[in-house]
Amino acid sequence: MSERSFVMVKPDGVAAGLTGEIVGRIERRGLGILALEKRVMAREVAEEHYGEHRERPFFGELVEFITSGPVVMMAVEGPEGTVEALRTMMGPTNPLDAPPGTIRGDFATDVGRNVIHGSDGPESAARELTLHFGAELAG
Ligand code: RTP
Ligand code: MG
Repeated sequence: MSERSFVMVKPDGVAAGLTGEIVGRIERRGLGILALEKRVMAREVAEEHYGEHRERPFFGELVEFITSGPVVMMAVEGPEGTVEALRTMMGPTNPLDAPPGTIRGDFATDVGRNVIHGSDGPESAARELTLHFGAELAG
């Protein structure tokens, strides 16, 4: 059984030159990158992507930030459990809680500028892969 996730280097990560580091960590882990694209996310797409947070006080800032510059989006494939393994590689949402060795723990300190996004479960992964890459990539 294989599993796919949607992973994205956020605008702060791209601006800091961390794309290669992050793609490299995913590759060296042995996961497959099925698709990869750098572009600025449209506002409507960002609002849909973060739709679960629409009522949160930080929603406006979140959409503003994620559309503020290019992101690098990836469809990542590996064995069952890959979605969760990628979340472990990323570290917790607040980088100050993230242990060294995780991407957020190594490269971020600000919860609003936490370098990377990864789907939080297989259902979110399918939704996000469909939104950004189309239904074929959702597997
Ligand atoms: P993401 O979706 O971006 O991968 O992050 P996540 O699953 O770890 O966290 P999530 O709860 O989905 O929140 C999405 C993004 O919203 C920002 N956030 N700010 N100010 C705050 O209290 C707060 N809480 C969340 C973060 O940038 C988080 O990545
Ligand atoms: Mg999330």
